[in-house]
Formats: sequence, C-alpha cells, structure tokens
Amino acid sequence: MTQDELKQQVAAAALKHVPRGEVIGVGTGSTVNFFIDALAGIRQDIKGAVSSSERSTERLRAHGIAVFDLNDVPRLSVYVDGADEIDPQGAMIKGGGGALTREKIIAEAADRFVCIVDQSKLVPTLGRFPLPVEVVPMARELVAQRLRSMGGDPRERAGYVTDNGNIILDVHGLQITEPREFESRVNQIPGVVTVGLFALRGADVALVGTSEGVEQRNFTPRTR
Ligand code: 5RP
Repeated sequence: MTQDELKQQVAAAALKHVPRGEVIGVGTGSTVNFFIDALAGIRQDIKGAVSSSERSTERLRAHGIAVFDLNDVPRLSVYVDGADEIDPQGAMIKGGGGALTREKIIAEAADRFVCIVDQSKLVPTLGRFPLPVEVVPMARELVAQRLRSMGGDPRERAGYVTDNGNIILDVHGLQITEPREFESRVNQIPGVVTVGLFALRGADVALVGTSEGVEQRNFTPRTR
C-alpha cells in the first residue's frame, strides 16, 4: 500500500470516532485532508467543525461542512488530527504543516484527541523530525539561543509566516526522552508562542494505518 492509501484508510477509520449531532475539532495536514473528504460523506450527521487552519477551513467549506469559531463552541468531545511523530506514550511532534498553535488550542478544548497517522510516524523517541516552534518575530534570536543551549539546532522555516503572523523555528538534532518536561521548558522561553510538542496534552487514541489494517492504540493520562 502507498503512504497515501495508508492515510486514506486511517482517515476513513476515524469516522467511527466522530460523535453524531455535534461540532468536532478538525486538524491540518495531508492525512486530515483525507479525513475531511471522508467527513463529507456524513456531513448531514454532524453539526459542523472547528478548524485548526485556513487550509482546513477552506476544504471543510468546499464540502459544505459548517465551520464554527472556537469561542462559540468552547468545549468539543473530539478533535481529530495527524502528527509528524508519535511515541509509545501518545506524545507527539506536530506542526510540520505550521498550524501548531491553533492545533494546540483546539486539542486543549477537546475531551478526546484522536490522532490519525500512518505507520511511518511511530517512533520510540521523539526528535528525528525537527521540532517546530512558533515564535514572535522579534524574539527569533533570543529563542534560538535558548534552544541551542537545550541541545537543539534551530533553523528558521524559510519564507514561512503562520496564520497568526509569526515565524517558525524548526529545531533539529533533538532526542526528546522527557517530552513533558521539555515542553514545559520551551513554553517558558519569552517569545515562544507554541512548541509543537504535544506531551502535556497528548493523544487519547492513535489510529495507525498499516499494510495489515488500522491498529488502535489507547493512551490514558497515566500511561502518558
Ligand atoms: C500540521 C500538523 C500535521 O498534523 C502534521 O504535520 C502531519 O501532517 P501529514 O498528515 O501531512 O503528515 O501538525 O501542523
């Protein structure tokens, strides 16, 4: 199976986790694009979506799915999103698509985070994928220095501006063995808007697309 077929398979499997009659949280990325396309098939059964990016909003609307402002629906039962890496405890690196800040906000508003990935995203330790950090532009060098002192090699994502008008530093060379602590430390650097480490609020469920079918992994705050 190709990687796209694995993504499509896992996106379809996520429909089982969508509560009927409600507004659901929808993430960003190529796997989520397949999920949005699948969601179109049950659009009459859901009230709509809160979206984590302009790109996902456009795709949802193109399918006739209503998009709500999070301020009008501050509590969601479910948030469905992809990840760049996920570890055995359900901690993730996200933000490869640059939507990490809105993703983190919506994840926090949701009771259940359903992560949809193909098997290539499973890792024993986070960090091979460069960790995205959204930064206020004037703090670029300050934040980069702090990240270097934490063992990383931050590189500005060239020509990229987030939906919130900020830049992204992609931090290479990390091996994140204590993701919750690392997330807290990066959060405390002035000028950091969001770190794309989702460990303090990790996934509750991962649906993993493999050539043998979709595997479901469940995480609890205790195992995280
Ligand atoms: C976007 C994200 C995505 O979930 C992540 O980059 C995975 O994307 P894809 O499904 O295209 O592999 O965090 O900010």
